[in-house]
Order: sequence, then C-alpha cells, then structure tokens
Amino acid sequence: MKLFQTKNALLSVLVLSMMLIPTLRAETVDGEQASLYDRLGGLAPITVVVSDFLDELVPDPLLNQNPAIDAARQAVPKPYLKYQVTAMVCQATGGPCEYHGRNMKAAHAHLNITEREWARMVVIFKDLLARHQVPEQETNELLAIIDSTKSDIVMASSP
Ligand code: HEM
Repeated sequence: MKLFQTKNALLSVLVLSMMLIPTLRAETVDGEQASLYDRLGGLAPITVVVSDFLDELVPDPLLNQNPAIDAARQAVPKPYLKYQVTAMVCQATGGPCEYHGRNMKAAHAHLNITEREWARMVVIFKDLLARHQVPEQETNELLAIIDSTKSDIVMASSP
C-alpha cells in the first residue's frame, strides 16, 4: 500500500473511531443521556441529600410560624417523611423506586402552605444542593420536579 493510501486509511479509522467512541458525558452506552437518578449518583447520595434537606426544613422557624405545619411536623415522624420523600425523588428522577405515599394535594391540603413558605423551602433546597456540589444542570432539573408539585401544595389564595 502506498504511503498516502496508508495515511488515508489511518485517517478514516481515526475519524470512524471518534464517531463511535462515546463522549465522557453522563451518557448510556446507546448515546442517550443517563437518567437524572444515575447522574445524581443513585440512591445513596439521594438519601443523604433528602435527609439533610428534611433536617433543615422540619425545624425551620419561619415555616413553623404556621401552626398547621408546626403541628404536623410534631405529629409525623421525621424518618417517615425522609423515607417517603426519598422514594418520591427516586421515582421522579427515573430510579427504580415506587412511591406509594399520598398525592401532594392530599398530603399538604391541611397545612395551608403559602407562597412565602414555598419560597423559603426553595431557598433551603437550593442552598443544600449547592453545599452538596450538585451541578447546575441537575440542580435545575430537580428544581423543575419540585416546581411541578407547587400548584398542588401551595394554597391558591395564599399571599
Ligand atoms: C413549603 C413546602 C413544604 C412543606 C412545609 C411541607 C411539609 C410537609 C409536612 C408537614 C408533611 C406531613 C403532613 C402530614 O402527614 O400531616 C409533608 C408530607 C409530605 N411531603 Fe411535604 N412539604 C413541602 C413541600 C413538599 C415538596 C415540594 C415535596 C416533594 C416534591 C413534598 C413531599 C412530601 C411527601 C412525599 C410527604 C409524605 C406524604 C405521605 O405521608 O403520604 N413536600 N410535607
């Protein structure tokens, strides 16, 4: 084989392999983006983030100025909430769990949650994700999941 033919053959192999080798982004073998669940690192990191989140949310003074929230957080065991929220996040991010708790309307209707309380929860959640160094893309996807539940959780007539 002549030199220029060899060169061309080598070049073709190089170009072909560059097309075939998957990039080092979080992708599955067939080139699709990995689920949010997998990009977050699976169940272990999710349990840690949910646990830390509820450790901050449940005793939060602003939220507990609302007597309904205060009464519920004293009545409902925190480990139970951690379990249910973890199952929900695991399922919503594409993980293998199944959430069997109440729907968001039924679980929060009696709490009279206001826009202000919702905003407080979002601040706590964002701060926590930043502290855990969750990347921007995954943070935004998690916030979108949370936001999709807002109309079921916040009282329609709240200030
Ligand atoms: C300001 C925002 C929120 C507050 C103050 C809040 C507070 C609470 C409280 C006090 C309970 C226990 C209610 C009871 O059993 O009497 C509860 C249940 C629950 N919350 Fe929230 N929550 C908020 C937002 C969210 C969001 C955004 C999610 C998930 C996307 C969520 C997921 C759940 C789940 C899964 C349960 C358990 C449902 C069950 O017992 O079947 N919550 N929440």
